[in-house]
Amino acid sequence: MLRHFVQILDFSKEELLRMMELTALLKRADKDGACPRLLSGASLGMIFEEPSTRTRVSFEVAMTKLGGHALYLRPGEIHLGARESIADTARVVSRMVDVIEARTLKHQTVLDLAKYATVPIINGLTDFNHPTQVLCDVFTMTEHAPKGKKLEDFHLVFVGDATNVCVSLMFICARLGISFTQAAPAKYQVSEAHRAMVKDACAQSGAKMNFTEDPAAAVAGADFVYTDLWWWVGQESEIPERSAAFMPKFQVNAALMAKTPADARFMHCLPASRGVEVTDEVMDGPQSIILDQSENRLHTEKALLVWFVYPSLKRPSEALLARHRGLVEDFLTDFF
Ligand code: CP
Repeated sequence: MLRHFVQILDFSKEELLRMMELTALLKRADKDGACPRLLSGASLGMIFEEPSTRTRVSFEVAMTKLGGHALYLRPGEIHLGARESIADTARVVSRMVDVIEARTLKHQTVLDLAKYATVPIINGLTDFNHPTQVLCDVFTMTEHAPKGKKLEDFHLVFVGDATNVCVSLMFICARLGISFTQAAPAKYQVSEAHRAMVKDACAQSGAKMNFTEDPAAAVAGADFVYTDLWWWVGQESEIPERSAAFMPKFQVNAALMAKTPADARFMHCLPASRGVEVTDEVMDGPQSIILDQSENRLHTEKALLVWFVYPSLKRPSEALLARHRGLVEDFLTDFF
């Protein structure tokens, strides 16, 4: 059955753990300069309705390292939803590439692509969620696990707005059994509708979800403190209201980090607004693991591409390759 990577909760705990094991294997291979060319000859279509540094670079480099090829497809340069329906774009591009990554303004666009595509769709961020980011984040957390703690003992404290990344972190924590706390003004906490989506996952995994307006108390028990932008493109008119709600109480600064356990780590999906939701001293300080997190996007994308593409990729024998080459060469010799 064709599966897509659109939502973390579509995957079991075991599947997510296996994806992270694959990430570790591919990271180790890469560090030895020996990334296996598992996707030789394969193509990735990358649709970006919004700008991106990490997602674009990581997917394109991942595909190259695996022996494949990536195409950067921007609206205005392809007919996505403008002169051609999303369904037709999905059907047509599927006939030419092996997998599609899509960053779209509306989550519905990714759902529509997944409905009509005949190759896997990987969600590269929508207004609802960012599953590739949070798989990478939990992998990064395992690399920086506090001494003696296993995944299910982690406590992730997200300080800030209920962004798509925050919601996705809640999803993956719920699935994997990681305790999750969001500290934010009540108005900016994860909606009841999104909280309801993790009820079953929490019951299964034992994950605890907390929502509070007290960041200082929340980070006192944190293994990982995470934040994200307080506003995004299109929310500029809300900047005064959002600034007033978050600043200074919810800024991740040295004073707030001083309240964490000594081995707690600081995370940010980036891009960051330095001096707004987080200060330079935290971003560049000893507790920060933001650059490991960014690098791990590359290793996670490699794992996701292999996971979704390798099983269906045809791997012809040398004999079959030679046969087809011979047929074409005979034709060319006869013709020319
Ligand atoms: N974190 C993240 O998705 O970064 P980009 O917007 O640069 O891709």
